[in-house]
Amino acid sequence: MTHTLDRADRAARIRSVWRSAWDRGQVDTLDELLSPTYVRRRGPAGVPQDRAGFKESIRAVRAAFPDLRTEIEDIVEEGERLAIRWRSTGHHSGAFLGVPPTGRPVEVSGATFARFDGSAVAEEWVTFDSRHMLEALGIITTAHRAAVDPDLVKGVHRKFITGVTVVTADDDGTPRGLAVNAFSSISLDPPMVLVCVQRSSATHPVLHRASHLGISILAADQVDVAKVFASRADDKFAGLSWSRGGFGAPLIDRSCAQLEVEIGERLEAGSHTVFTGRVVSARHDDLAPLVYSGGGFFDISQTAPLPW
Ligand SMILES: Cc1cc2nc3c(=O)[nH]c(=O)nc-3n(C[C@H](O)[C@H](O)[C@H](O)COP(=O)(O)O)c2cc1C
Repeated sequence: MTHTLDRADRAARIRSVWRSAWDRGQVDTLDELLSPTYVRRRGPAGVPQDRAGFKESIRAVRAAFPDLRTEIEDIVEEGERLAIRWRSTGHHSGAFLGVPPTGRPVEVSGATFARFDGSAVAEEWVTFDSRHMLEALGIITTAHRAAVDPDLVKGVHRKFITGVTVVTADDDGTPRGLAVNAFSSISLDPPMVLVCVQRSSATHPVLHRASHLGISILAADQVDVAKVFASRADDKFAGLSWSRGGFGAPLIDRSCAQLEVEIGERLEAGSHTVFTGRVVSARHDDLAPLVYSGGGFFDISQTAPLPW
């Protein structure tokens, strides 16, 4: 009999305790619902929380969102288990995840799966979509905002003059590479650089699994080399003079500068991967670099230096 009452009571007790804990900050009311050995799990990578840890995290959320309201939208019971669908709203009025208060409204929806052991919840699995919250706090951007005309953006990029590099990696003994002008120095101490490579390129998977990249900055008389590496030719190294650097990365002979880079991070960004890395070998020659501007190639030695 007690057992049956206990069961009928479960959903109502969850509603009441959640309101006290989440909406009013009376976290000790959780002791009426959660067993002393309670474990809360969130996703495969999440660190399980005990009852005290859970109370602490509610306090932290409430400190950041003092007007927090959690609405239980549905509760489904099956035997000893309950599934609770919920939605929380509040304004970001205190520091959260290192982000100072933005005053922005935030909404998070999720589901909690609770397993009862007698009258107490022994274990909960929580899943929620944190994207809206992280976006509202400016931590991530997922939405595609009002598009700027891509041709306009392209036009802007054409105003930016670059050199041309050939980015390479060793593919089990076979050299592979592509032409890249999205190359930049990051820092000198430590010496770090980055390159951006489109994921749709055939060379991308080779670069992604490599430990080192070769970066050859092409010389003014290497337009033909640039064209080959900007193509999707099967063997871009056929008939080309190249050699391996000390770290095994293929480097183009007679290019005006060469780096080998130990890959650090592979950051997914839009349609590209940004490879960052530490420079492990470097050399340059007294050759003029090839210049790329507005979709055309130029010889910088033909340009007039301006007084500075
Ligand atoms: C001057 C120039 C610069 C380029 N810069 C880049 C770049 O920064 N990143 C990139 O992914 N592709 C860039 N490309 C395009 C690739 O080189 C091109 O898509 C190539 O065909 C890829 O070869 P793959 O598919 O064999 O790897 C550039 C092309 C040219 C002509």
